[in-house]
Amino acid sequence: MSDKKVVVISGAGISAESGLSTFRDSGGLWEGYNIEEVASPQGWQENPKKVLEFYNLRRKQAADAQPNAAHKALADLENHFEVVVVTQNVDDLHERAGSNNVVHLHGELRKARSTKDESLILDIGAEPIKLGDLAADGAQLRPHVVWFGEMVPMIEVAAKEVVEADILIVVGTSLVVYPAAGLIGYAKANISKYIIDPAEPQLFDLNEWVHYKENAGTGVRKLAEKLKKEHS
Ligand code: APR
Repeated sequence: MSDKKVVVISGAGISAESGLSTFRDSGGLWEGYNIEEVASPQGWQENPKKVLEFYNLRRKQAADAQPNAAHKALADLENHFEVVVVTQNVDDLHERAGSNNVVHLHGELRKARSTKDESLILDIGAEPIKLGDLAADGAQLRPHVVWFGEMVPMIEVAAKEVVEADILIVVGTSLVVYPAAGLIGYAKANISKYIIDPAEPQLFDLNEWVHYKENAGTGVRKLAEKLKKEHS
């Protein structure tokens, strides 16, 4: 077991090979939807039924999807390193692959919470949320996801993990959405930094980063083998 700490920042691209859509690629999730309508507090005020239907569909798709080689390679890395996965994904494919330390920055599809008392959170698995489904405080349930314009309560926990990283891996995220995109700025100087993405990063300078310009399944497996060899 190495004494190095590996921190992974993942996004929708890591679940693409499991059949789940990314957001900003062509054919991405936001192309068919108006973000304001389905992922903002205003959208919820105006048409909660539409918002619930959008997340009910995504919850079903995520429950039907299976973890892929990339999720599994990251879970296996825990046999060799301390690993923390900070994910922007609301699916649970990292956990189902076997990762034990997952920080969900943008919430989790398999949870619902009260629209009144935010601490009333329920595990609903793959079940839909309907209008009229109430939390213990009598208020309507909503998806336990972070919408545009809302706070990201887990960002401080995530930043603290990145500060402690000896090896930082960014996989399958365009890193254009803040505050998640700002996390890489917390890394200590001179640590090893890897990005796995078939596309060129848009917003940050690749200087200091090793880019595996590949799909997550192939890239994460290759990188995991390299890290295991270098640190065994
Ligand atoms: N393997 C690895 N990366 C891939 C793959 C793949 N098979 N397919 C696509 N990608 C890459 C794309 O090139 C892109 O850089 O994954 C990235 C996906 O970027 P986005 O669609 O912007 O997804 P993400 O970064 O997770 O979005 C962040 O935006 O709307 C919000 O809340 C939503 O959590 C989401 C946040």
